[in-house]
Amino acid sequence: MRTQVGIVGGGPAGTLLSHLLHLRGIESVVLELRSREEVETTVRAGVLEDGTAELLRETGVGERMDREGAVHEGIELRFGGRGHRIDMTGLTGGRKIFVYGQQEVVKDLYNARLEAGGQIVFQAAATDLADLETSTPKIRFRRNAWLDVDAGAIRFRGDAEEEELTCDYVVGCDGFFGPCRAAIPDNVRTEHVRTYPFGWFGILVEGPPATEELIYALHERGFALVSTRSPEIQRLYFQCDPEDSVDNWPDEKIWEELRARLATEDGWTLEEGRIFQKNIVGMRSFICEPMQHGRLFLAGDAAHIVPPTGAKGMNLAVADVRVLARGLDEFYSTGRTGLLDSYSQTCLRRVWKASRFSWWMTSMLHRFHHEDDFRYRLQLAELDYVTSSRAASTSLAENYVGLPMEPQEEGELSAQRTGGAR
Ligand code: PHB
Repeated sequence: MRTQVGIVGGGPAGTLLSHLLHLRGIESVVLELRSREEVETTVRAGVLEDGTAELLRETGVGERMDREGAVHEGIELRFGGRGHRIDMTGLTGGRKIFVYGQQEVVKDLYNARLEAGGQIVFQAAATDLADLETSTPKIRFRRNAWLDVDAGAIRFRGDAEEEELTCDYVVGCDGFFGPCRAAIPDNVRTEHVRTYPFGWFGILVEGPPATEELIYALHERGFALVSTRSPEIQRLYFQCDPEDSVDNWPDEKIWEELRARLATEDGWTLEEGRIFQKNIVGMRSFICEPMQHGRLFLAGDAAHIVPPTGAKGMNLAVADVRVLARGLDEFYSTGRTGLLDSYSQTCLRRVWKASRFSWWMTSMLHRFHHEDDFRYRLQLAELDYVTSSRAASTSLAENYVGLPMEPQEEGELSAQRTGGAR
């Protein structure tokens, strides 16, 4: 098999890249380990930055998002028994966020790719990458694969032969646990890691929204977040021990914990409903530098992980593939590789800033139970400052709705603010 761009991973990064390339007349093949149904039904993140929503709209895959997604113009920070609204739209000159599930974005992209005759091979496992430093890199893969989650191993049905996909470029969009990152040699690759001493217990609930905007709460017992998925399905989280098990949490204990953490002086009540899914996720920050080696490029979770507190994960993946699609376009239309050569540097500037924001939100909003009261009191003071200073809330708001997708736009932004000529 031969294609121009071989993409390992059919999540938001890989599928959006394939879509953006198709719009520029560049051919790609996407290899995805899971089945289509599994990807489309796994509930993941749900917040789209303004720029992410705009890109989906501009490229013809934003129609259902605009119809079914919820536009949010602010968030609430709740602490000390009181809620404080951050008017994101007012503070950022009209920008907003969309609450629309990642798996819905992926569904829309699959439909667009498959309608356009795009190739997405589901249940295909990449087994090896070869010749990355030549002009014909290769992805070896096997079909009919499935992930045995309990054993943490990939298995194959039948006697699937190994196949080879020869490409001009290989892009690893295969997530944190995928094989692509390891293909960057150890002596070239630096990995920056921070693991947080807590996780998030997430639930999906049947019922109407408990609130119009997302609520991020800090309480003595820990963090809690009220989010949504649709008018009928709500998403809530609370800080927990990352080693805990969902089996230790019957429904009533979960509601008790959420009620306690979200309580306000004026008696706000939490809308409860039937819990139909529970899961625990660990929290870490992770950045791999560089994000490129030879003709292999990494995008999204394969290159970086942020804790979910800033809602940046999918948005970073979208920003990466936007930069990459431009670079590949430049190569195929002019033969020049300037944008591809600066891919890693361009992306990492934004990745580090989003990582800083996610780390900051995480540090401000969680209980570090093993530390003393001094830290907790500083966190409350920081929340008090952020919600009472226009400068501080503007900083939170502009990061939350999303920093400019590419650095040159930052210059444009400051020129606008100072009234300078562009
Ligand atoms: C979610 O709805 O899953 C969600 C919302 C906001 C976050 C993280 C996750 O910061």
